[in-house]
Amino acid sequence: MKFSETKLAASLQTIISRRREAAGLYQEIARQLPLENAQRVLDVGTGTGLQLKVIQEVRPGLELYGLDLSPAAIQSASRALGDLKVDLRAGSISSTDYEADFFDIVTCNASMSYWENPRECFNEIHRILKPKGSAWFFEPHKDIDIEGALDQIRENMADQSPLRRRGAVKLNKYGLKKGTGIGMKLYSVTELKDLVKSSAFGDHHSITKTSLLKIPIFVCIQLWK
Ligand SMILES: C[S@@+](CC[C@H](N)C(=O)[O-])C[C@H]1O[C@@H](n2cnc3c(N)ncnc32)[C@H](O)[C@@H]1O
Repeated sequence: MKFSETKLAASLQTIISRRREAAGLYQEIARQLPLENAQRVLDVGTGTGLQLKVIQEVRPGLELYGLDLSPAAIQSASRALGDLKVDLRAGSISSTDYEADFFDIVTCNASMSYWENPRECFNEIHRILKPKGSAWFFEPHKDIDIEGALDQIRENMADQSPLRRRGAVKLNKYGLKKGTGIGMKLYSVTELKDLVKSSAFGDHHSITKTSLLKIPIFVCIQLWK
C-alpha cells in the first residue's frame, strides 16, 4: 500500500484541507467553475471532500460526487461532510463505474500529480463528461520559484502561530522539492500540453499558470468535450 492510501495520510490530509478551507482556497476554486448551468459535479481525488462542501455553499442543489483512490480518504470525507448528500466512492479515475456522458463538471485539485497513468485518466474523464461538459484542474507545476512561493505562504499565515507557520512552510517545501519521493510527479506546462493532446481531449484544452491564495505555483487546466 502506498503512503497516500494509509489512514495516517488521510488524517494529515484532513488537517491540511481544514486549513485550506479556512484560508478560502476551495472558495477561490469554486468561483472559477461554471456552476450556473450545471447539474452533476464530480470531484476527483476528493480527499476530505471539503471542495464539494464549498461548491454546495456557492451553488446549492447540485448533485455532488466524490471519488478517491484511498478508502481511508473516503471515510474521512464521509465524516467531514456529515449530512450533506454526496455520492462518495473509493476507486481510481483511470477506470470508473460512472455512466458515459454523465457529468457537467469534473473538478480536481492537487491530485493529478499522483496519478500513475494520466493519459488513461484523462480518457476516462472524457468518457464520463457530458458533451459540452468541462473538467477543471488546479495543480502545482514544475517550473516554479519555490522560495518565492514559501515567502507567500509565510505571509498568508502571518496571523498563525510561529509553530504552525513553520510546519506549513516545511511541509510545502518538502512536497515541492521532493515531490517524486512522496509519489508526486510535477509536470511543466509543455509536458501537460503534450499529455492532454495525446488524450481523447486532443486540442480541447487551455493550460495557464495561475496563483491560488496568491501562491504562484499552480496551473489551471481546462478540458472540454
Ligand atoms: C493531496 S490530496 C488532495 C485532496 C483534495 N483534492 C484537496 O484539495 O484537499 C490527493 C488525493 O488524490 C487521491 N488520488 C491519487 N491518485 C488517484 C487516482 N488515480 N484516482 C482518484 N484519486 C486519486 C489521493 O488518494 C489523495 O486523497
